[in-house]
Amino acid sequence: MSSDQQGRVDPEVAKVGSLSSPGPALLGTATTASESNDNSERTLQGEAPVELKESHHDTADNANLRPDSSAETVSLDQAGLHGEEGLATERQQQEIASISAPSTVALSVDTSTDGDIDRDSDNDSAIGDTSIYVYQFAEEHGRTYHRYREGKYYLPNDEIEQDRLDLQHHLFRLTLDGALFSAPIENIPGGLHNVLDIATGTGIWAVEFADQFPSAKVIGTDLSPIQPEFVPANCFFEVNDAEDPWMFSHKFDYIHGRALGSCFKSHLEVIQSAFSFLRPGGYLELQDFIIPVHRCIDDTVHGSHFERWNNLMLAATAALGKDWSRASLYKEYLQQVGFVDVVEMRYNWPVGRWARGKKEKMLGMWYKENFLSGLQGFTLAVLTRGLGMSVTEVEALLAGVRNDIHSNMFHMYLPMYVPTTFSQTFQC
Ligand SMILES: C[S@@+](CC[C@H](N)C(=O)[O-])C[C@H]1O[C@@H](n2cnc3c(N)ncnc32)[C@H](O)[C@@H]1O
Repeated sequence: MSSDQQGRVDPEVAKVGSLSSPGPALLGTATTASESNDNSERTLQGEAPVELKESHHDTADNANLRPDSSAETVSLDQAGLHGEEGLATERQQQEIASISAPSTVALSVDTSTDGDIDRDSDNDSAIGDTSIYVYQFAEEHGRTYHRYREGKYYLPNDEIEQDRLDLQHHLFRLTLDGALFSAPIENIPGGLHNVLDIATGTGIWAVEFADQFPSAKVIGTDLSPIQPEFVPANCFFEVNDAEDPWMFSHKFDYIHGRALGSCFKSHLEVIQSAFSFLRPGGYLELQDFIIPVHRCIDDTVHGSHFERWNNLMLAATAALGKDWSRASLYKEYLQQVGFVDVVEMRYNWPVGRWARGKKEKMLGMWYKENFLSGLQGFTLAVLTRGLGMSVTEVEALLAGVRNDIHSNMFHMYLPMYVPTTFSQTFQC
């Protein structure tokens, strides 16, 4: 992080481009179905108000960095995945191809700085389950993983990962200009009484939300009991698999789910459960991103370790039968199960401080730190279990990725296809 902190913000660059510009003025605003469709159409097509360019030094040297000259697609072979092609789904293949495809997001390179400022589980649910095994985490390659429904989720649950999740929480808040949520929950008929946070992680969102709304009862659920003991009196945690049939004794006014891309076999089914457990007029809000699919606004990523990591991760998750890239489909899923007035907003998290704009630099600095601290955790189980890579091979790859990231040469960002989707349900 130290080199990041050396970067200075160019006052001029703050004028150009905003992370939230692809989804203007949508925060906290419920729209009519047709308005929201219009906005989503625009954002889904990635139409950006600012033309992408290397703004300061538009010379012949960097002319080949322009989007229209970087349309070269990346194949699995290029990632060193000979023989693995059949593993990726068609959509995942498209994601692979699009990593360095022309981008139309409102990010432009700031060239004025150096870029840096259950094994025995026959229970259907573990609600209220205090079985000791739930607390005895599974250990693999020096990291620990959840024991309830063991093997289902591929990211660790140890202190390193918990610290990263808490850091990421701040990244989400920065993205939403400090807010914990975007849905207009003040409009919920009858008020806000019961709140659910699906797959709550360390529970940091649930705790802060419970503090902010002391009259609401907030429940956070997760496969791992990694939440703190001392929490607001209106905040509760349960070990629970969100993919099981929901067994709550009451419905909710507001359901929140964040960073769930890597969690479920069927996001659609979880969204269907949420729909069934919302009171009429309640909201479901999802905030998510597509990992590992980073994109690059130019061709700087070509041939890098980072590009290879992206492609290997996509192939490995496909081999494991997982699709982590569904955030872009959430809106469709919400509409499919019956939600109305679905609003989708989009942001980007640059990897490092290379992008113009004060907010972009701030998000880039935090995301770079978040990515570096999470890299081993995201990768180890996925590449060893999914592609049979050895720990040594994985660590060698990660060393290269870290070098790439520290070099600040790569104009990569994490697309936030659906950082916030909220919808009102009129279900009876
Ligand atoms: C990336 S973390 C996000 C945590 C939290 N939502 C946040 O934003 O900080 C994903 C969490 O989902 C949990 N998880 C994964 N699959 C789950 C499932 N099927 N049911 C409940 N929780 C699950 C994991 O244990 C992990 O804590």
